[in-house]
Amino acid sequence: ETPTADDAPALRHEITRVGVVGTGTMAGGIVEVFAKAGYDVVYVGRSQDKLDAVVTQITRNQDRAIEKGRSDAATKDAILGRLTGATEREALGDVDLVVEAIAEDLDVKTELYRDLDRITKPGAILATTTSSLPITQLGAATKRPEAVIGMHFFNPAPVMKLVEVVTTDQTSPEVDETVRALCASVGKVAVSCGDRSGFIVNALLFPYLNDAVLLAEAGEHQLVEIDAAIKAQVGLPMGPFELLDVVGTDVSLAIQKELHAEFGEPGLKPAATLESLVAQGRLGRKTGAGFHEYA
Ligand code: 3HC
Repeated sequence: ETPTADDAPALRHEITRVGVVGTGTMAGGIVEVFAKAGYDVVYVGRSQDKLDAVVTQITRNQDRAIEKGRSDAATKDAILGRLTGATEREALGDVDLVVEAIAEDLDVKTELYRDLDRITKPGAILATTTSSLPITQLGAATKRPEAVIGMHFFNPAPVMKLVEVVTTDQTSPEVDETVRALCASVGKVAVSCGDRSGFIVNALLFPYLNDAVLLAEAGEHQLVEIDAAIKAQVGLPMGPFELLDVVGTDVSLAIQKELHAEFGEPGLKPAATLESLVAQGRLGRKTGAGFHEYA
């Protein structure tokens, strides 16, 4: 049955100010998504340098959009004017929703959720971008598990359409609906998922990416040839090694380990090359080298 407009999710909570915790690739992209859509954004990082880097990135993307005739100086100024950077979490006291995009470490995140529960106003929604950790456990660190939900964005967040909206057994239907409506209001497509390792996309994508590394390790094919074959034949915009470098070998390894631990299938064991690239600090585009080298 085709859904009608009546089925469209509604904003059951008023959302005007959005908080973002983190200043990495995903966090910066998410700040940009909300600011572009007209939301005031308070974003929290560990140092002024990291906060500045987010502004630099958004400025660069806006400048490129202006060059291409897709934005103008007034729009750029308005977007930058909606940003408030802070090094203290206390700055999140009056936001309606927080999107957390910090390191994929359950202890670090759990500590943050305890703090967010204390700092944010009653009713504020706490959304995590985790791609592999159990959201139920983050909810359990708070006194508001009904307001804890996953918003799994894809990299690069300003471009990728999909957001996996992940509910736990405790997430309230109103919070779920609000977050799905919020996704629509920032031009994203929301897909509802359960709190199962890898959700939908990563559960299907990472076994393939790991297989690509194993295929390269077998030694018969060049990385660029595997990338080229997939782009030409499967119609994906990037080959597996280009994509691993965009996602980050470190993030990819963490996801692969989580999937392996959860489902125990031998084929999910992270390929040795992924481990060794991470050990060498070749984390992908963000460090200038990963599977490929970047100028
Ligand atoms: N930030 C903001 N905008 C960006 C950007 C970035 N990092 N990278 C590209 N763009 C914009 C460009 O400005 C351009 O905008 P325009 O259409 O308005 O001119 C548009 O995106 C297209 O970019 P380009 O023309 O420079 O380059 P491509 O056409 O090669 O597209 C790509 C680049 C969009 C990254 C494309 O290669 C792609 O879709 N790759 C696949 C990415 C993907 O699959 N991501 C998901 C990974 S899995 C994941 O994230 C899950 C997590 O848990 C790990």
